[in-house]
Amino acid sequence: MKSAFFLSFAILLLNYTWAIEKRDYSKRSYYTIHTLKPNDRASADLIAQEMGGQIEGQVGELNQYYWLSIPKGSKDVLQHYKKLKRSFDPMVINIQPQIPRRLHKRAPPPVIENKNEEYRLNGETIPLPSLDEPNGFQLVKDALSIKDPGFDRQWHLINRDERGHDVNVTGVWSQGITGKNVVVAILDDGLEMNHPDLQENYFAKGSYDFNDHTDEPKPRLSDDTHGTRCAGEIAAVKNQVCGIGVAYDAKVAGIRILSGDITEADEAAALNYAYQENSIYSCSWGPADSGEVAEAPQGIILDAIKNGINKGRNGTGSIFVFASGNGGAHDDNCNFDGYTNSLYTITVGAIDKQGNHPYYSEKCAAQLVVTYSSGSGGYIYTTDVGDNNCSDRHGGTSAAAPLAAGVFALVLSVRPDLTWRDLQHLCVQSAVPISLHDDDWSKLPSGRMFNHKFGYGVLDAYRIVELAKKFETVRAQTSLEVLSIIDLDNEKQDIPDLTPATSFNGTIEKENAFTTSLSVTQSMLDDVGLGRLEHVTVTVNIEHERRGDLEILLESPHGIISQLASPRQFDKSTEGLKDWTFMTVKHWEEEPVGKWTLRIVDGKHPENTGKFIDWKLTLWGEVVEGFEPKPTQNDQKSNRPNIGVDDFESDQDGVVEDDQPNSQSFLDQQEENKPNKAYIVYAIVSLFMIVSIASTAFITKKYMSSTAQSSYSRPTEEDTFEFDNLLSDESNNDDDEELDFNDDTINEFQVNEINHDRQAVH
Ligand SMILES: *[C@@H]1O[C@H](CO)[C@@H](O)[C@H](O)[C@H]1NC(C)=O
Ligand SMILES: *[C@@H]1O[C@H](CO)[C@@H](O)[C@H](O)[C@H]1NC(C)=O
Ligand SMILES: *[C@@H]1O[C@H](CO)[C@@H](O)[C@H](O)[C@H]1NC(C)=O
Ligand SMILES: *[C@@H]1O[C@H](CO)[C@@H](O)[C@H](O)[C@H]1NC(C)=O
Repeated sequence: MKSAFFLSFAILLLNYTWAIEKRDYSKRSYYTIHTLKPNDRASADLIAQEMGGQIEGQVGELNQYYWLSIPKGSKDVLQHYKKLKRSFDPMVINIQPQIPRRLHKRAPPPVIENKNEEYRLNGETIPLPSLDEPNGFQLVKDALSIKDPGFDRQWHLINRDERGHDVNVTGVWSQGITGKNVVVAILDDGLEMNHPDLQENYFAKGSYDFNDHTDEPKPRLSDDTHGTRCAGEIAAVKNQVCGIGVAYDAKVAGIRILSGDITEADEAAALNYAYQENSIYSCSWGPADSGEVAEAPQGIILDAIKNGINKGRNGTGSIFVFASGNGGAHDDNCNFDGYTNSLYTITVGAIDKQGNHPYYSEKCAAQLVVTYSSGSGGYIYTTDVGDNNCSDRHGGTSAAAPLAAGVFALVLSVRPDLTWRDLQHLCVQSAVPISLHDDDWSKLPSGRMFNHKFGYGVLDAYRIVELAKKFETVRAQTSLEVLSIIDLDNEKQDIPDLTPATSFNGTIEKENAFTTSLSVTQSMLDDVGLGRLEHVTVTVNIEHERRGDLEILLESPHGIISQLASPRQFDKSTEGLKDWTFMTVKHWEEEPVGKWTLRIVDGKHPENTGKFIDWKLTLWGEVVEGFEPKPTQNDQKSNRPNIGVDDFESDQDGVVEDDQPNSQSFLDQQEENKPNKAYIVYAIVSLFMIVSIASTAFITKKYMSSTAQSSYSRPTEEDTFEFDNLLSDESNNDDDEELDFNDDTINEFQVNEINHDRQAVH
């Protein structure tokens, strides 16, 4: 009995060391096996045996993925797998080769002097009373016992020159809120763990080097300074070295992934590394910022991100913070970077020491907030690689994301029970609009302001922490998909070119652009129990001879316009957009009932043309109170809600959920003047269960005296909109008279298949 226990323990350990063993790409080829069932090591072993290779353990925290390695020069695994596919089909989803490739640091952008862009100061400043006293700054430092020699240069913490342009954190520190018990992992090029400014806050257990496959993520290359600087911004110790971190009692872990090529499987493992201890993952990297690419994490990386959201931080969800990117000068847009464009991540852009938009910081509809970094001659002062070294040259959005991650550490130190979505709500509700002269600001029906360059505004540590103290955690997430497909006979529609006659002077007449609409009704929302709207995603299939010509706009029923794609002069790709999903946070808490219109503006290079194929609108948000999903035909076996974001997530019994979403389909009766046929698919994609109920109850009680009021209100009659009701036939809304589809009902899966077939033709 006892020995059996020790044996299994030993096997566990063995598995663990296998999973992190250094790979030898010169002698072996590596693959991942994606099994249908979780923890199905037996099937993986069977395949390994068949292929003449060996299983090297599970991939990170993903219990449906295994490493397979084969000696170089043995049989072609993919060919062999193809032949044997049928016999493996019931147990394996796929086998993917793992070839190391490079991720890009958001290196500090070069200084550009004399930019034509005219900067104006934002008039709003918030004086900190004690600073105004004679010797005020010294008094603040004394009160907080700050003796770090570099603190005087950390204007992002207290800005004496441009009053108010800092993260406003002193009022948080003065309450003793300094990030205790929160670990922030820095996925980067290493972390100088022995630096006297970091040593005390270094969290070894959450750290790992995925480039050299060793435990210590030491900076080993001459340019491995990025991660150490980011770590210093978050948790540089309050001592007498350099400056201090915004959450100077938080812990930092280093996860080294940027100092060499890395496989997707290792990246996936890195994104979940020690995810019960590491709460926040600060990521200042992504696809190249050249303004030419559209790249998104897929497959195993996307599964890892979802796994983190779902299971990380004891089920409240890992917090992934991503820098918006430094491609501003190349017209790059963070909606074309799948990490920043994801609804599972918090996208952070930069502003400079005067509150202006720096030229490098990318704009997009997925950007939630901004915080301080380089620009207007200022930089971020922080810890650096080398014994007692400090850096006075940290910058770019690379420096903004860790500052935000540090502020989130302050939030979680007060409210560890908050979920990944709560953090996003807090950003939306607490951010302060800035640089109000910028013409992209628009006033939203929620009363808030949004700007594609600034998101909801600048992160204010004091405001977000105060709001967090009394924040009521949001209910589970649900979503509604509304899908258009074009009649097969008339499958593609021309996108008119609107290039003005004189390209230097004329204006593009956007009203003549290609438009297409989808309608959302209250009954559709009711079916999935969608209450308060959060993210909106739009998935498009568009062909174009020069992708960078396109501007894509989404107009909500209230006339709020999200710019999903902006023209990008260097994007000459002829690939168009294939199943590309854009995400926008601009419609947060808008009432979604009514017509949603997609506008595709092609205003450049008349010689390059394009065609529109189809689109899908997905509304994500909080489920209404007491919602019970209705059992449908696809869901007769059980009417349990599908727990978790993963459609193929397993439940506690280890039984795999049906691959198809819990969905109902309605055949659309379109207006005669439109040739298209549309299918509307509703899908209850996910419901989140809050695990830490105990801590929620405790915290709620603790802050009960403050008014806990969320700004959401139920829709009233006046709020409902007039629209073309796609389901105008009343009977379609009636439960008893649902259109009777059998298992072959067109569902999202099949529609996607059709799309892929179409693309294959061209
Ligand atoms: C900044 O923090 C102070 C407390 O230290 C607070 O009074 C002030 O309102 C905060 N600023 C903003 C813009 O909320
Ligand atoms: C998750 O729970 C474990 C066990 O209770 C605890 O040690 C750990 O700190 C928790 N993780 C986080 C991020 O709160
Ligand atoms: C530390 O700073 C000094 C002086 O700037 C520099 O010469 C040295 O290379 C730095 N050390 C490291 C390890 O980067
Ligand atoms: C631009 O257009 C306006 C109005 O059409 C015209 O008056 C003006 O002369 C044009 N400028 C140039 C530089 O072509």
